[in-house]
Amino acid sequence: VVLRWQGRCTECGEWGSIEEEHADPAVGQLGVLGADQPAAPARPLGAVRPEAARHATGLGELDRVLGGGLVRGSVTLLGGEPGIGKSTLLVQALAGLAARGATCLLVSAEESPEQVHLRAARVGALHDRLLITGDPALARIVGHVDAVRPDVLAVDSIQTIHHPEVAGVAGSLTQVRECATALVRLSKERDVATVLVGHVTKDGSLAGPRSLEHVVDTVVSFEGDRHHGLRMLRALKHRFGSTHELGLFEMTAAGLAGLEDPSRLFLADRRPGGCGSVVAPVMESGRPLLVEVQALVSPTQAPMPRRAAQALDGARLGMLLAVLARHAGVDCASADVWASVAGGVRVSEPATDLAVAVAVASAAHDLAVPDGTVVVGEVGLGGEVRQVPQIERRIAEAARLGFTDAVVPPTTPDVPGSRLQRVATLEEALAVAR
Ligand code: TYD
Ligand code: MG
Repeated sequence: VVLRWQGRCTECGEWGSIEEEHADPAVGQLGVLGADQPAAPARPLGAVRPEAARHATGLGELDRVLGGGLVRGSVTLLGGEPGIGKSTLLVQALAGLAARGATCLLVSAEESPEQVHLRAARVGALHDRLLITGDPALARIVGHVDAVRPDVLAVDSIQTIHHPEVAGVAGSLTQVRECATALVRLSKERDVATVLVGHVTKDGSLAGPRSLEHVVDTVVSFEGDRHHGLRMLRALKHRFGSTHELGLFEMTAAGLAGLEDPSRLFLADRRPGGCGSVVAPVMESGRPLLVEVQALVSPTQAPMPRRAAQALDGARLGMLLAVLARHAGVDCASADVWASVAGGVRVSEPATDLAVAVAVASAAHDLAVPDGTVVVGEVGLGGEVRQVPQIERRIAEAARLGFTDAVVPPTTPDVPGSRLQRVATLEEALAVAR
């Protein structure tokens, strides 16, 4: 055995979360134990019936991410930055569950029951089967669970609950972990589907939630740009389903509304036919979305012109400017270049390269891409246009929204409802802007 000091958890990257444990001398001597009678014989894997007992919330976008709803006896961590809308999503989900016959218990230790009532009334989430308590003491929460016998327990937030037998104040790493572990045990024992809300800051510095990821069954993250109404929900870990689903919501005056047609929101304020504007079909967690890529090119005398990328990869923008200069005759060496994706969605895939490059060229030369055209493709260092994953789904989504023309990589197969302009090089692609 090698003993050494370790300050950082190799699993979650958290500092100071590792505690010393003393080995139980009985462990390691299993060889001397007698055999216990098994409760049930082992069975063929194929004969095991998966538990399909889920509580649907009725919020389509949430159920999509959960794979159909909350699984009985499971624990879901709902993480996100403060103010993003976790409590709103939670109360709407609980009202949906209650409306479907589930008894729900909300432990709201962060906001008073009166405050939650006001919010719930505003978003139409009051229901007789949705019960609330403001009690933050863990032992009394267990008491409430035994009194109410809920199907669903929600704790908002895990950072405000405390366990009197554990050291530290509510929200400290030990408290958060011990309380979560106790709630996980409670949830399994009572067969209650539990949702724990956890605040996470951008740098993950707020104690707790990240260290809970291996304690809970499912981790969903609620994200978005506070300045835009768009909210994205993703599963980061899911023991009972896929982690590739994306849920989209819009924060409105009446709470969160599921966005079944997000592309329309992203393109709502677009000025068709404007210079420096290109519509690109991107994939977000397996969902095709149409976004508007914008560029602004402005001459400057400065020795170091500015390059600014918003909601796009800045290094990729630099690379595209070099390829534009070298292979397509678009020189931005004495101009400031801004490029952005409008609407609050962050795009990081190389499939948007061609759209960004065409937007910059369109801005630099005061040319417009014809209305009704989308642009998609990866750009290589030689100025060649390369194929991207799921090209047909991207073009089909564009066609569905009335974009009849698409500038695409040369190997793209035909897609019904769309006129394709296959381009082998960036230079060929630029010819579409007039
Ligand atoms: P909240 O759910 O309290 O966030 P969290 O629990 O993640 O901290 O949401 C807070 C924000 O949402 C707040 O700035 C106001 C806004 N909001 C709306 O825009 N519409 C609504 O109907 C509600 C309830 C909140
Ligand atoms: Mg909250």
